[in-house]
Amino acid sequence: MDDMPEDAPKAPDAPLVDAIALLESDHRKVEGLFVQYEASEDDDEKTALAHQICTELKIHTTIEEEIFYPAVEGKIEEDTVDEAYVEHDGAKVLINDIEAGSAGDDYYDAKVKVLSEEIKHHVKEEEMPNQGMFAQARAAGIDLVELGAQLKSRKLELVAEAEVDGLPPAKPTVVNLAPA
Ligand SMILES: [Fe+2]
Ligand SMILES: [Fe+2]
Repeated sequence: MDDMPEDAPKAPDAPLVDAIALLESDHRKVEGLFVQYEASEDDDEKTALAHQICTELKIHTTIEEEIFYPAVEGKIEEDTVDEAYVEHDGAKVLINDIEAGSAGDDYYDAKVKVLSEEIKHHVKEEEMPNQGMFAQARAAGIDLVELGAQLKSRKLELVAEAEVDGLPPAKPTVVNLAPA
């Protein structure tokens, strides 16, 4: 802007974001990446897309599990939250496996496909009208704007970490893996 004084703050306050809008926009982004993967015939591009999907999903499941799920626990149906944790853990197994490989490996396309199906199911459970987790959270009167701010700031930290060092493998939260 022309008339802005030189010492004006560089960035205006970020607009408020509703927690559910933020999480749903993550869902749409990952769905788009899965569509691009399906359409691609180039192994390098497919590997890059698959790794991007895994990073997005690690960030998304982390902010949900650190911030959103604890905020709704006790205020919505217990089964809804319990199943969400278990579904995340199921996806994490494939996420770590996909990140360790590349397109052209045996079963790689199948792993990405099955991950997309697991995520599709899980997103439906979150977004379903009336009984879905998000609808229950809205009905419970949770402060979604405050929660949105927390999700956004944690997400920015994780995005920065992913860009600098990459994120560590996803860790299951409630499912026990085979004993070592
Ligand atoms: Fe989600
Ligand atoms: Fe989730």
